[in-house]
Amino acid sequence: MDWDANKITPIGTDLSVAKELLLQGQPVAIPTETVYGLAANALDDDAVLRIFKAKNRPHFNPLIIHLPNWDAMKKYVAEIPTDAEILAEKFSPGPLTFLLKKHPVTANFKFLIPDLVTAGSQKVAVRIPAHPLTRALLSMLDFPLAAPSANPFGYVSPTTAQHVFEGLNGKIPYILDGGPCQIGLESTIVDFDNQQVIIRRQGGVSVEEIETALGKKVLVQTGVEEHPVAPGQLKSHYATSTPLYLGRSKELISQFSSKKIAVIAFGKNMEGIQADFHFQLSETGDLDEAAKQLFSTMRAADAAGADLILAERLPQIGLGQAINDRLQRAAQEMK
Ligand code: TXA
Ligand code: MG
Repeated sequence: MDWDANKITPIGTDLSVAKELLLQGQPVAIPTETVYGLAANALDDDAVLRIFKAKNRPHFNPLIIHLPNWDAMKKYVAEIPTDAEILAEKFSPGPLTFLLKKHPVTANFKFLIPDLVTAGSQKVAVRIPAHPLTRALLSMLDFPLAAPSANPFGYVSPTTAQHVFEGLNGKIPYILDGGPCQIGLESTIVDFDNQQVIIRRQGGVSVEEIETALGKKVLVQTGVEEHPVAPGQLKSHYATSTPLYLGRSKELISQFSSKKIAVIAFGKNMEGIQADFHFQLSETGDLDEAAKQLFSTMRAADAAGADLILAERLPQIGLGQAINDRLQRAAQEMK
């Protein structure tokens, strides 16, 4: 059964409605502390296909599965490295996703993550989200929820129920409203290879925090989102419809003097710049606040009616690295 596309998608806080729809194999938007996810039963291929359909994804990227706690998670993975245990102790529930070996096909089918979810990989991405409403929902279910960010393919990730509505109204049967996301950036993805810990995507937990928790250096090898099944299709991710340029704002302002320009500032980094629209990630230059505001600010700048959006890179420390990564991927390539 597919959702009737002529209906308006309701936004609400009713966990039993969400549960009922998920049991029927329907996708439901759920709040997390990072971004809103578009969730469906991870063990049901048809349910997972409805996620791809609603998001209009051109190909099947692997999806993160969400579980209520670390114990529930253990049922779905074949082994857990010590470093993963240490990180889970410190950051789960929270914005950290673990790439762990999944069970072989010979395992009990109840705990087998389908190839559609992992895109054929031997590893599955698992996360325990921290949002209370979604944790309550997950503990009412006896299956994990596969959930990518709840935005149409390629667009800015949603950090409010209203953002989800703007992108997916009529395409999904329910949006569970948990208020604005507390972190505002997707989870950090960590991988484990023998004794080596590898960051595959920067996100809500910074590299420094991970290194401190482990007491050792980690490798940063991001790119899981740039190397999809069909190469070259993902040049821009997290993109605004209005072209966004990253860096050299002063120079670009004079080059595009006849255009309507929106700037996304961080603290005082756009001081003295004459633009038609000014947006601010954090007046005081606070990186956590900037992370939380990033996607709503990108959406607001996109809606302002400007011809282009200018932003500068933030300091490459803490969440600044993950923010720069998202801005870079939203941005036009500059020669
Ligand atoms: O914060 C988050 O992680 C949000 C919320 C909803 O939990 N989810 C999210 O999902 O950002 P999505 O689908 O937008 O990004 C998931 C990333 C993709 O880049 C994908 O390539 C990677 O995780 N990924 C998932 N499973 C993987 C696997 N088995 N192997 C390698 N990469 C994987
Ligand atoms: Mg996404």
